[in-house]
Amino acid sequence: MSSLSVWLILLAPLATLAHPVKPGDYSKQEASGQFWHISDLHLDFSYHLTDDHTKVCLSSKGANASSPGIFGDFMCDSPYGLILSAIQYINASEQKVDFMIWTGDSPPHVPVKELSTKLVIDVIGNMTSTIRSLLPDMLVFPALGNHDYWPQDQLPVSGSEVYTAVAEFWKPWLCEEALSTFRKGGYYSQIFKSNGTSHPLRIISLNTNLYYSPNKVTFNMTDPADQFQWLEETLKLSRQNNEKAYVIAHVPIGYLPFTSFTAAMEYKFNEKLVKIFRTYNDVIAGQFYGHTHRDSFMVVLDEKDKPVGSAFVAPAVTPIKSSSEKESNNPGFRLYQYDTNSYSLKDLWHYYLNLTDANLRKEALWKLEYIMTTEYNIKDLQPESLKELVLRFRKPQSVEFQNYYKNYLVNFDSPDGCNTACKERQVCAIQYVDGSSYLDCLLDFLKYDGIQDSSNFL
Ligand SMILES: *[C@@H]1O[C@H](CO)[C@@H](O)[C@H](O)[C@H]1NC(C)=O
Ligand SMILES: *[C@@H]1O[C@H](CO)[C@@H](O)[C@H](O)[C@H]1NC(C)=O
Ligand SMILES: *[C@@H]1O[C@H](CO)[C@@H](O)[C@H](O)[C@H]1NC(C)=O
Ligand SMILES: *[C@@H]1O[C@H](CO)[C@@H](O)[C@H](O)[C@H]1NC(C)=O
Ligand SMILES: *[C@@H]1O[C@H](CO)[C@@H](O)[C@H](O)[C@H]1NC(C)=O
Ligand SMILES: *[C@@H]1O[C@H](CO)[C@@H](O)[C@H](O)[C@H]1NC(C)=O
Ligand SMILES: [Zn+2]
Repeated sequence: MSSLSVWLILLAPLATLAHPVKPGDYSKQEASGQFWHISDLHLDFSYHLTDDHTKVCLSSKGANASSPGIFGDFMCDSPYGLILSAIQYINASEQKVDFMIWTGDSPPHVPVKELSTKLVIDVIGNMTSTIRSLLPDMLVFPALGNHDYWPQDQLPVSGSEVYTAVAEFWKPWLCEEALSTFRKGGYYSQIFKSNGTSHPLRIISLNTNLYYSPNKVTFNMTDPADQFQWLEETLKLSRQNNEKAYVIAHVPIGYLPFTSFTAAMEYKFNEKLVKIFRTYNDVIAGQFYGHTHRDSFMVVLDEKDKPVGSAFVAPAVTPIKSSSEKESNNPGFRLYQYDTNSYSLKDLWHYYLNLTDANLRKEALWKLEYIMTTEYNIKDLQPESLKELVLRFRKPQSVEFQNYYKNYLVNFDSPDGCNTACKERQVCAIQYVDGSSYLDCLLDFLKYDGIQDSSNFL
């Protein structure tokens, strides 16, 4: 056979791909898809510039704004113009994407009495209309956050005014079956079919706010809103139908990276969810969260320490911090690349706004912050690659870890950086999502550091 006919045969099945493949460029042959991820918009509708800095925004709760400008302030939730600039950037980017995920939290951090069920519904409606008007053809898969309810955190286990109203807003994106479970428990699953692939992708949007520690409604329950049972049935069916699944939710699994021994969820709920994710690791191709307002990732290991899952936490669009915190985040969001056949994750591009700079210029110049594979020198975002990366993070003076911490704060200028205890907490939170292995990880570090340093952890 001549070499020309070999090329013709090899290229024939590729003719249907969106991007033509150059001969010899075999690594790029699998089809690639992309999707956006935005989180924690937290609109503060009271934000306005005024000389009395205690009055700039209700979300500063009486504290002075630090350096307020038209795109916001590190003591305040997002002014409308900041959120608009983010969605406008996505609109203007002309990236070819298949869908967007939006992991919740639209209302501002203000005292409970400043909000009401009606205001919370109005803010979620406003954010939905804003996204719909700037991205009219975008398919969006949303998830509810702990602030998407009034009073905040108390998301209920059966129908509510908020679930019903939000289901109406999200009708253009979700099918009737998804809306019906959403109206009951604030969760759903829906199939996404990308072009020319063998198996479908199922988006599973969980209401993990039911497992969030401050939720008093669900505190004593074993399976709030029957979500665990539904999740297991959904994943079982997915496996039978040869589907892959992406799990999206607001409150993440695992441990908070900025403190010690504290899971994001109630301990027992975290253990249960991690167990389900391990059991169905062949189905779940990625997990995507928000809530912490910081940029982080986690590896899910099975009981034998084999990496079986990749989980990503997107930072917030809101730049807010409380007056007791030294560090905050610049506004950020991201774009993931995935293989449209296996749905495995290939890369992520993270975008951010230098808030200080935007306020000085009076112009929001969103920029690419980093590309994950080149930033950390990994080949993809598969669980094996992430585990290998965290092992590199653990080395003393790891430059990759220094970059990780800079990205964790979305380039916020940190006054103190990340000392030894800080790094140990970060690393254990990345590497271990279940209680006992996380505990072992931190205790091992404590033993190594010597007991005199243990106060750093308590
Ligand atoms: C806010 O700043 C003003 C002017 O610097 C100061 O007088 C006031 O005490 C500050 N208020 C608070 C709550 O920190
Ligand atoms: C959303 O709220 C902002 C700020 O309060 C307002 O300017 C805008 O008109 C609202 N948009 C919609 C679609 O409700
Ligand atoms: C950007 O927004 C305009 C309307 O404001 C719309 O016609 C256009 O399709 C949008 N582009 C994308 C990529 O969604
Ligand atoms: C999928 O195919 C449809 C028509 O068959 C086309 O309009 C659309 O742009 C394609 N989408 C992608 C992501 O390639
Ligand atoms: C949870 O259960 C404990 C023990 O049964 C009980 O004392 C407590 O009041 C319950 N809490 C709630 C919020 O229902
Ligand atoms: C953000 O902008 C400010 C003001 O222009 C500048 O001093 C700072 O270095 C910038 N930060 C980054 C990470 O580029
Ligand atoms: Zn939030």
